Amino acid sequence: MKKSLLLIGLLSSVSFAQQQKDYTKQVDSLMQLMTIEEKIGQTVQFSGGWDVTGPTVSDVNEDLVKQGQIGSFLNLVTAKATKDIQKLAVEGTRLGIPLLIGYDVIHGYKTIFPINLGLSSSWNPQLVQLTAEKAAEEAAAEGIHWTFSPMVDIARDPRWGRISEGSGEDVYLGKKMAEAYVRGYQGDDLSLPTTIAACMKHYIGYGAALAGRDYNTVDMGDNELRNTYLPPFKAGIDAGARTLMTSFNVINDVPASGNKYTLKDILRDEWGFEGLVVSDYTSINEMIPHGYAADGKDAAQKSFSATLDMDMMGDLYRSYLKELIEEGALSIELLDDSVRRILTLKFELGLFEDPYRYSDLDREAETIYRSDILEAAVEAARQSIVLLQNNKAVLPLKTSNIALIGPLADDQSSIIGDWAAKGDRKGKAISVQEGLSELLQLPNLKAVQGTKIETSDSSGFKAALKAAKKAEAIVMVLGEDSNMSGEAASRSSINLPGNQSDLLAEIRKHNPNKPLVLVLMNGRPLDITAEVKNADAVLEAWFPGTMGGQAIAEIIYGKTNPSAKLAISFPVNVGQVPVFYSNKTTGRPMNPKNPKGDYRSFYQDIPNKPLFSFGYGLSYSKFEYSNVTLDKKVENGVEVLDFSVSVKNTSKIDGYEIVQLYIQDVAASITRPAKELKGFEKVWIKAGEEQTVRFKLTREDLGFWNQGEFKVEAGTFKFNIAPNSDADLTNSFTLE
Ligand code: NOJ
Repeated sequence: MKKSLLLIGLLSSVSFAQQQKDYTKQVDSLMQLMTIEEKIGQTVQFSGGWDVTGPTVSDVNEDLVKQGQIGSFLNLVTAKATKDIQKLAVEGTRLGIPLLIGYDVIHGYKTIFPINLGLSSSWNPQLVQLTAEKAAEEAAAEGIHWTFSPMVDIARDPRWGRISEGSGEDVYLGKKMAEAYVRGYQGDDLSLPTTIAACMKHYIGYGAALAGRDYNTVDMGDNELRNTYLPPFKAGIDAGARTLMTSFNVINDVPASGNKYTLKDILRDEWGFEGLVVSDYTSINEMIPHGYAADGKDAAQKSFSATLDMDMMGDLYRSYLKELIEEGALSIELLDDSVRRILTLKFELGLFEDPYRYSDLDREAETIYRSDILEAAVEAARQSIVLLQNNKAVLPLKTSNIALIGPLADDQSSIIGDWAAKGDRKGKAISVQEGLSELLQLPNLKAVQGTKIETSDSSGFKAALKAAKKAEAIVMVLGEDSNMSGEAASRSSINLPGNQSDLLAEIRKHNPNKPLVLVLMNGRPLDITAEVKNADAVLEAWFPGTMGGQAIAEIIYGKTNPSAKLAISFPVNVGQVPVFYSNKTTGRPMNPKNPKGDYRSFYQDIPNKPLFSFGYGLSYSKFEYSNVTLDKKVENGVEVLDFSVSVKNTSKIDGYEIVQLYIQDVAASITRPAKELKGFEKVWIKAGEEQTVRFKLTREDLGFWNQGEFKVEAGTFKFNIAPNSDADLTNSFTLE
């Protein structure tokens, strides 16, 4: 049968609106026509070679597409190229099944938003959802159906380069961000040409790589897996995420890409996940060097029987599934299940209705860098920049006579960060220099680099010192190159690279009384213990994206009041790593009255507390917290804990405050974290105004996993509502 007739036949039976929810009939009818080779083809994904995101790259193999042996591509973009390849699949194959085209749209596609760690520092899920929505629109117009995002790995080791791609150290914030990304990418209707499928990654435990070295082994108990690493995945699935990607790492002795316990037992059987699971780039093949599979065939058998549906770039499913099924090592039912999941997604995306709906040259031209998308990028940058220090209230700056110094001061490339999809690294992003010169109306404002990001050559210091001497205030923009974070970008040192710290020290030494503002751009928490002493104000800008320079300038001059708070702790130094607020208390907690004594848990040379804690960030406003209360009630038959606090803006400046609720389960059947975030609200409070902020929790919110069982236990809980995680939990309640 010719595919066009076949498709008309399949689609005419039920109206499209009715098909949106349940495509079982269409999928089943199509599958009845498919040969085993065609079915296996659906499980195969190749790279289009437009980008290199792994060790090997294959060119688009047109013959394989025409034979129906490829069901999906990654790294293939633009409306034209995606349309061309789609045409091959739709018109050149027996059944005309459209291809599924995926790409890493991580924090924007063309318009680049702040890196994800910055986005989560906004503590604003609605805003993060908006960025994902806009990213989806740009990507979809270029023919992309599916993004390999969000990365929802909890990460607590800043040596790990991919910490930049996640939402930080905390489970609750991580869950909220996971939901926001999923809703943003997918919208309410996946079949619209402006929405794309989300892919939660990396399942599972990838962020806990031993010693922060990428791809390294992960070992954790089942309680830790379920209480810390799984919840963001579950939250994203509950928000509707259609797909998931397995991770490269071994978890508890079994590679995640062949792990029956995490994939089959938990994901499929316990959670009932019916979406598509794709491997990471050759992660099935990598089970051979892991020592878990003897050869490619063995690896394919292990992954496929764990219900991993699609093989990204490994070419093992194409090579071995048929043989394995014929030998009885895999069942045809297993193959059918996977193919059903893949085809369902293609139906849901509307690809059977119009395989070219995403690849639209006109829409591509209208959408890319559209003004509302750029506006969302400025707002996201404004809300992701954390004010870490503002001694003597030097910010907002009062003078425009400034020296702008540092290797990132006029940078247009690193500012958009790692994994910046198709973001332009030249000519488009607004550098700090451009942002300041526009805001101050100083067209001649020039940046003096002073040094490079990674060098020991200090010959440029002289020019920087000269510029500083002439100015009334100094703005220094220092940090990492964007390629120092991301995949395979682990660092053993988390100091500022090269001699940037020396440059800062020199400038301070010669200008002890001039306001000195340090703007940092980096993809991970850095050790800035020395640097904060040499600067009056410190702004953590992360890599703030295409519009970053504008947002930074606005904050420096008070046009925007900073509102972000850290989604991850900044250690005193690398020896403290991993340091996170929700750590458990030891049996010998450090005695604050005798911090280095009594055979207690401490470091001889540094404090236990990080330099800047999770949830910390300053504003130009001042907020006072009072009247923390808890009211226990029953609403609609459900027991509700109704917490409240009064927050007053005692300053003369309107601003956002991020109000945070922390609790501790004092004694339980397993030990629980010293503090856990259980709610937050970002509220706009006008100067002089006081607001009441409420949080409602149910019993379920106080539960935890213990040996595979979710439990809510009676007992005493401590709590507080506070501006950051340093708060002492001075209140308590009892759960009956
Ligand atoms: C490897 C990365 O781990 C993953 O996050 C990414 O989506 C794939 N490569 C595809 O580029």
